[in-house]
Amino acid sequence: MRDLIKRITRDLINSNYAIALTGAGISTESGIPDFRGPSGIWTKNPEEEKLAYRSYQVFLNNPKKWWEETLTTPFGLLEALTKAEPNPGHYALTELGKMGILKRIITQNIDGLHEKAGSKDVVEYHGCISKLRCLSCGSRFPQDKFDLQKLMGEDKLPPHCPKCGGLLKSDGVAFGEPIPADVIHQSTKEIENCDLMLICGTSAVVYPFAALPISAKERTTHKERIDETGKHTFEMVPAVTIIEINAEPTPLTHEGISDYLIQGKTGEILPRIVEEVKRTKAT
Ligand code: APR
Repeated sequence: MRDLIKRITRDLINSNYAIALTGAGISTESGIPDFRGPSGIWTKNPEEEKLAYRSYQVFLNNPKKWWEETLTTPFGLLEALTKAEPNPGHYALTELGKMGILKRIITQNIDGLHEKAGSKDVVEYHGCISKLRCLSCGSRFPQDKFDLQKLMGEDKLPPHCPKCGGLLKSDGVAFGEPIPADVIHQSTKEIENCDLMLICGTSAVVYPFAALPISAKERTTHKERIDETGKHTFEMVPAVTIIEINAEPTPLTHEGISDYLIQGKTGEILPRIVEEVKRTKAT
């Protein structure tokens, strides 16, 4: 582990544009269960995952009914999500951002914990639990700006966009729902700009998010080599160093998309990396 911490420290310090991709695993140490880990929500209740796959179709067929069900069905995760506080893994990424090393976080998590830990300009790839989004103009609004229970009592659901009158849905992206255009644009830009990608706490099985590291892996760049005769040669090498920090190997590990995996808890590993970066930069 010590050698890997030194290796990732060197890679981070030598990078020009490092980004982090995160999943539910970085929030489990904040008390929010993940989905596919050993005690994940879908692992424990595969039926719930099947229901989740139908949710967007229900919305499209009958937005009023979807909102009534959403507002009247107790959401198991809600308590954990609203009570959760950032953990040392979130704060460590915020610290790498403040050092100017980490330029962007693209998260699948809807818990808002990266922003709560002080990270700026986080790309919320699957949206955020506390926002509503207009399906016509794409505008987002804090959910607490709407009295949804009152709208339901007055039979005025679904809520409509104050800007364009379009249909409002929770900002969280459901299975089968298109990723919002602004998020696609932002994340594509980050994948094109980065030369180091940290992938923290994701099983990397949900697309299109899981395609981001694969696209990064396809990028190449020229590397100059000078041989023993002093002759300069150029060769194409991968443009991005991809590093996983995860409790278990994932398809990215098995398929050689990631250069290496540091196996363990993000809440323990990320702070150790920050300490090693500080120690190295101080010498
Ligand atoms: N430290 C490191 N890794 C962890 C930790 C931890 N403390 N806790 C869990 N993990 C790992 C798990 O072993 C698993 O490999 O994080 C990964 C979490 O994977 P998932 O539960 O599949 O979560 P995620 O990859 O974010 O899911 C993607 O699926 O259900 C949808 O929209 C939902 O955004 C979610 C998407």
